[in-house]
Amino acid sequence: MPQRELARGRHRLARICIVSLALLSLAAILIGFIWLPSAQADFSAGTMWNSICRAAGVPSTWGERDVTRATATVASDVILTPGMRRAAPAAAVGRGATLALNCTMCHGAQGMSRSNAPNLAGQYPEVIIKQLSDYKSGKRASPIMAALSRNLSADNINDLAAYYASLPKARTAPTTYDETLPALVRVGAPMRNIAPCISCHGGVDQKLGAPWLEGMPKDYLVQQLQLFQHGERRNDGLLQMRNVAHAMTPQEIDSVATFYARKALPVAQ
Ligand code: HEC
Ligand code: HEC
Repeated sequence: MPQRELARGRHRLARICIVSLALLSLAAILIGFIWLPSAQADFSAGTMWNSICRAAGVPSTWGERDVTRATATVASDVILTPGMRRAAPAAAVGRGATLALNCTMCHGAQGMSRSNAPNLAGQYPEVIIKQLSDYKSGKRASPIMAALSRNLSADNINDLAAYYASLPKARTAPTTYDETLPALVRVGAPMRNIAPCISCHGGVDQKLGAPWLEGMPKDYLVQQLQLFQHGERRNDGLLQMRNVAHAMTPQEIDSVATFYARKALPVAQ
């Protein structure tokens, strides 16, 4: 008799275990595959297979490249090469000078702006080539510059870059490293992933494609940093400037712009 009681007791225990295991599994499936994914902002009611893949951290499409996303995130069509920095022949500079007559109204007679347009004098040739090509392809948005670059050929763009690069005496002196530079310019903010400006824009290192900033009009600098910050300007390869501007406060944007614009020409009223 006690033997049979014991056997029945074990039987019931086993049944309780199985039922609770089943309930637990069901709850885990609901939480893991339905509730948690749906609580994420980018959830879209996809197939069960997608939810399972998501929950397991596995891509739902194997080996298939998402072409639309890949092309949408290409910042620029221009591939920068050190050869773009090489001094151009005098004939190119001459042709560029003629083309640049269309640009003086905003960028100044010698490429030094007295409006809020950027200076072009002494700008690195690869910067001018890249920016003009980006306006032309629409990778950098500006109604004015889109219209002005539309009819420029690749040769025209190279000639303009050669001309402006040949005017280094007009541009403002470069920043040299010293302890008095603003902290963000000199050391960045490592805790917020902001690299120092002088590690790309000259002072410590000058990266290919990073523009000459000294003497640019302050309003232009503020505007560009804000555009990068809001992702409205996105022609910077590898998100270089969007990552820098992302974490900056309005006061910091104002202070680095004031610093780089300290030797800008006064803006004509
Ligand atoms: C009507 C005024 C105007 C004229 C004319 C003009 N620009 Fe511009 N340019 C601007 C403005 C404003 C910007 C900044 C636009 C922006 O926010 O991206 C700019 C930006 C640029 C830049 C980007 C510079 C940088 O540091 O990123 C280049 C390069 C440039 N212009 C070249 C030219 C050339 C070459 C011509 C002549 C063929 C020309 N521009 C004519 C107003 C003008
Ligand atoms: C990792 C390198 C890097 C760092 C660090 C960096 N920049 Fe840049 N910056 C670039 C590059 C590259 C571009 C050109 C992007 C493009 O191709 O359009 C640029 C463009 C800019 C422009 C637009 C200029 C123009 O004429 O178009 C401004 C303004 C600027 N940077 C300011 C800053 C400031 C201020 C800092 C420091 C707080 C900084 N950058 C730090 C690489 C850098």
